[in-house]
Amino acid sequence: MTDQQILQIAIDGPAGAGKSTVARKLADELGYLYIDTGAMYRAATWLALKNNLDLNDGPGIAALARTCNILLKPADETSDGKIRVFVDDEEITREIRTQKMSEQVIPVAALKEVREVLVEKQQYLASIGNAVLDGRDIGTVVLPDARLKIFLTASAEVRATRRLKELNAQGENPSFEELLKAIIDRDHKDRTREVSPLTMADDAIEVVTDNMTIDEVVRELHRLTRAAKEGLSGDSSRMKV
Ligand code: DC
Repeated sequence: MTDQQILQIAIDGPAGAGKSTVARKLADELGYLYIDTGAMYRAATWLALKNNLDLNDGPGIAALARTCNILLKPADETSDGKIRVFVDDEEITREIRTQKMSEQVIPVAALKEVREVLVEKQQYLASIGNAVLDGRDIGTVVLPDARLKIFLTASAEVRATRRLKELNAQGENPSFEELLKAIIDRDHKDRTREVSPLTMADDAIEVVTDNMTIDEVVRELHRLTRAAKEGLSGDSSRMKV
């Protein structure tokens, strides 16, 4: 497969918009590689904590992330539908999904040195074949030439409701207000940080998921993927939707 034939699908958006659920489903159904880039930032944070590094130590965390093997494996019955994450041989699937880790990852994801290492790993993985990547900067930084760029959003209230359900299923019971505040806070930090802030790429298609089920979102993404594929086989370099 040449670079021209590879279809890279970039899915960006704020926390809790449902990106990882729909990205994983879409990738599964298309038979594409699914790369959850948020899990990679969470893994880097886990590494920093394990090695007692300060969560603002960019060079230190980047050096660890560079030498360790961060491995993403398909979800199975042990992982509640989430992909399985390993650092070298140690499985960290559950540890990286706690509410505490969602807060600790924020400063780490803002470190330039860490982003450089992880973006390089993401670009390598996406160059192997057809792939779906989800994150915050996929369409703007990781894969600026991706054929299909989606920006998935939902209101903060809808996202907090979804997150509450998810955490309850994991046995955590934060209040709705606490979660809403955390989501608004995380949005603000993701959008205003200096390095790779969350922004919609100029050529991304926005999909607002407030009133959509997961299946409806996935169906819409299949429709957009078909349109992008037609663009691939046609002579026009622009996608028609
Ligand atoms: O999608 P998530 O909640 O698992 O992401 C974890 C954190 O990493 C979140 O604070 C945003 C950040 N992130 C990022 O800065 N860039 C990405 N490509 C993916 C995630």
